[in-house]
Amino acid sequence: MHMILLYIHLLAATIWVGGHLILAISLLPEALAKRDPKMIESFERIYERIGMPALIIQVITGLWLSYRLLPDIMAWADWSDAIALTISLKLICLAATFGLALHARFRVIPRLTPASLAVLGGHIIAVTFLGLAFAWLGLSFSYGGV
Ligand code: HEM
Repeated sequence: MHMILLYIHLLAATIWVGGHLILAISLLPEALAKRDPKMIESFERIYERIGMPALIIQVITGLWLSYRLLPDIMAWADWSDAIALTISLKLICLAATFGLALHARFRVIPRLTPASLAVLGGHIIAVTFLGLAFAWLGLSFSYGGV
C-alpha cells in the first residue's frame, strides 16, 4: 500500500515540478523577451488540465503518507522531531503554493498585459522553487527528515 501511494505521489510530482520547470526555464524567458503574454496563457490553458489534478493528488497522497509515517496528527506540530518538522515544512510550502496560485489565477492572469508579465514571471519562479523544495523535503524523509 505504502509503495503504491508513494508511486502515485512521485508520478504527480513529476507532472507538477516538470511542468513548472518547462514553464520557468523555457517558455517564460521567451515570453518576456517577446513581451508576449499569450505564450504563457496558452501553456497555462493546456497545463491547467493536468497540473491542478496533479497538485490535488499530491496533497491527498502526501497527507496519507504523512499519516502513515506519524499517525498522531497532533505530533506533526512537534518540531523537535525531524519527521514532524519535514511534514510541517511541506504543509508550509503547500500554503505558499496555494497563495501564489490563487493570486496569479484571480488577480494577475485576468489582467495580464506585456507590462505585468514580469509579475506573473515572479509567481512562476517562486512556485517552481517551492516545487523543488517539495521534492527535496520529500526525499529527505528517507534520510530521517530535515
Ligand atoms: C507539489 C507537491 C509535492 C511534491 C513535488 C512532492 C514530492 C515528493 C517526493 C519527490 C518525495 C520522495 C519520495 C521518495 O523518497 O521516494 C515525496 C515524499 C513524501 N511526501 Fe511529498 N511532495 C509534494 C507534496 C506533499 C504534501 C502536500 C505532503 C503532505 C504533508 C507530502 C508528504 C510526503 C511524505 C510523507 C513523503 C515520504 C513518504 C515516505 O517516504 O514514506 N508531500 N514527496
